[in-house]
Amino acid sequence: MAERSEGAAGTRWFDRIVEGDAREVLDRLPAESVQLAITSPPYNVRIPYRGYTDDLPPEEYLRWLKDVWKSLHRVLVPGGRFVLNVAPTSIKNFRPIHHDLSRDLRDLGYIMRTEIIWYKQTMGRRTAWGSWRSPSNPHIVPSWEYVLVFSKGQWRLPGDPQAVDISAREFEQFSDGFWQIPPERHRRGHPAPFPEELIERLVKFYSYRGNVVLDMFGGTGTVAAVARRLGRHYLHIDASHEYCLLAAARVRRARPPKGVRVPAPPTGSMFALPEGVAEAA
Ligand SMILES: C[S@@+](CC[C@H](N)C(=O)[O-])C[C@H]1O[C@@H](n2cnc3c(N)ncnc32)[C@H](O)[C@@H]1O
Repeated sequence: MAERSEGAAGTRWFDRIVEGDAREVLDRLPAESVQLAITSPPYNVRIPYRGYTDDLPPEEYLRWLKDVWKSLHRVLVPGGRFVLNVAPTSIKNFRPIHHDLSRDLRDLGYIMRTEIIWYKQTMGRRTAWGSWRSPSNPHIVPSWEYVLVFSKGQWRLPGDPQAVDISAREFEQFSDGFWQIPPERHRRGHPAPFPEELIERLVKFYSYRGNVVLDMFGGTGTVAAVARRLGRHYLHIDASHEYCLLAAARVRRARPPKGVRVPAPPTGSMFALPEGVAEAA
């Protein structure tokens, strides 16, 4: 497990890019320290990530992720949010993994707050019609993804009203759960990065400035970069060395808002990184 930092991080456990296994790193973080986690795990649909084979037997895949969600639960503050982005699986081998995942999360005690439909507006590129103009076997093409939202223990997230940065217009727009956002065009050598707009909305809607925002399958660092740009602290975890390097460079370019004081996280702000998490070169 290695750590890529964008500066002298000392013993801080937040504002860091950590190369490692999601669960192993989560298990070494301080309890009740993260206000918002946003992630998109591998979907088990054979996407060619660097260093990870996205093709587990279905039950093993769900067991693996359930263990990750269990580790996350300890790390979230009471009222902390977990936003899980998951796409419908392929047309022919359709498996409703969004149902399986939300069942597992509720079994672990998470409150399911809502689900947002992210409509990707990609129908212009469709080819898989199934039986064209016939009811014999027509296909529905998934032009959307799910954004499932959970809370730990309670619905409310305590925070400083002075640290709210969402405008009335944004609040009105984002609270309509049908979000039309095109997929990310600039892929940075990664098969499935988030569009920044999706993360901006989630960060503003579900967290206060100064909160810690975590992505334990962080890829190219979209969550970390957006969190920093919006005056939040971040923690990025990914198993791939290459993606962590990409994320570190991207986060370095993301500037916190000018003239705004970003409060330090309310709990455990100085926590020695556990042995085995080495400082980046
Ligand atoms: C869907 S991608 C995330 C993309 C990210 N949302 C972005 O905007 O770039 C899933 C990521 O999980 C990472 N991954 C796979 N297994 C992992 C593990 N055990 N622990 C941490 N990361 C892992 C992969 O390297 C991949 O970058």
